[in-house]
Amino acid sequence: MEGLIGLSQETLGAAIRKPVSRPRIGEGGGEEGMEPVGNLRERIARLPWGDVCANLWSVGYGRMGSVLTGKECEEIRGLYDKPEMFRSRVNMERYRFGRGEYQYFRYPLPREVATLRESLYGFLADTAKEWMEALSLRGDFPRDLDGFLKKCKAQEQVRPTPLLLRYRAGDFNCLHQDVYGEIVFPFQVIFCLSRRDVEFTGGELLLVEQRPRAQSIGHAIHLEQGEGVVITTRYRPVKGSRGFYRANFRHGVSSVLSGERYTLGIISHDAT
Ligand SMILES: [Fe+2]
Repeated sequence: MEGLIGLSQETLGAAIRKPVSRPRIGEGGGEEGMEPVGNLRERIARLPWGDVCANLWSVGYGRMGSVLTGKECEEIRGLYDKPEMFRSRVNMERYRFGRGEYQYFRYPLPREVATLRESLYGFLADTAKEWMEALSLRGDFPRDLDGFLKKCKAQEQVRPTPLLLRYRAGDFNCLHQDVYGEIVFPFQVIFCLSRRDVEFTGGELLLVEQRPRAQSIGHAIHLEQGEGVVITTRYRPVKGSRGFYRANFRHGVSSVLSGERYTLGIISHDAT
């Protein structure tokens, strides 16, 4: 779309955020800094899934608001220094993926991570089916994560993909897609585990939508600690005059300017 590329982040952000309410999860929500209440499953169930999914369709991502408490964020990121919890550690610079590092959890996943993966999958599976239909791609997503992981296993995708990422000053993540085999769940969820402007500066989540025969659209998303965002893993179906076409999506992270930023990535499909 001619001219969009010239818009500032603020202009783009305002246009994008207009239909999006920024829910804080909790009774009487809406107050900045309020901690989410209830157990994790209840919090996920209370998310405004209608809005989240509507935004996935319209812009390729849906902000979920505050999901994890500060304590949960600190507990989860505290796992980073326990190598026994992980199956592999990736130095991004070595592979020219960016700078910084991340680690994939091993099975069994930590309780909170497993709960998030199961619950989120359950609320996204129906939309995932419609999404793949719109893209004219095969997408057979059972109602529960176990059923989906069995399908992954049948394709020899058995290694867990939820991951913790650690960025320090100067670190960044190049634009990419997290695809690890034939079977791909079309959505993934990112949680910020550090306090923006207190523990780190910079480090925005970046999304770029590439459309056929058109210039790309960029989104820069500032996440607060505990906040989650669902993003499309690979494509967004865009309604055209003759049905849907595929816009390619990639995500990354801009340079962290100071401090340390941890995020949790919840990917549903396992890896070969
Ligand atoms: Fe990623």
